[in-house]
Amino acid sequence: MLRHPSGSWLVDSEMNRLRDNQKGIRMAENEVTITVRPNGPFRVEGPIKLVDSNGQQWDLTGKPAVSLCRCGASTKKPFCDGTHSKIGFQAAEAAVAAEEAQKQS
Ligand code: FES
Repeated sequence: MLRHPSGSWLVDSEMNRLRDNQKGIRMAENEVTITVRPNGPFRVEGPIKLVDSNGQQWDLTGKPAVSLCRCGASTKKPFCDGTHSKIGFQAAEAAVAAEEAQKQS
């Protein structure tokens, strides 16, 4: 048994649950998730380092997530500036699906 900071005693099963929860929190804080937005950017969430071709690092302080341009038309590359909507960007998976539909009709 171990004494919890609140003053109560923890039995072994409670200690294990607490340890597992703390591990889960630590893993979640270090996890990076990249979400492909439909006909839009890559949304990158989590602790990342973003560097250019010269090794210079962007300052992402205070940004828990960034959106990276996938259409190639952003004026703020590598970040998305919303231009994909204006140009009607269609992601490859949607374009292939549309092409396949045309072939079948
Ligand atoms: S994906 Fe948004 S501007 Fe390119």
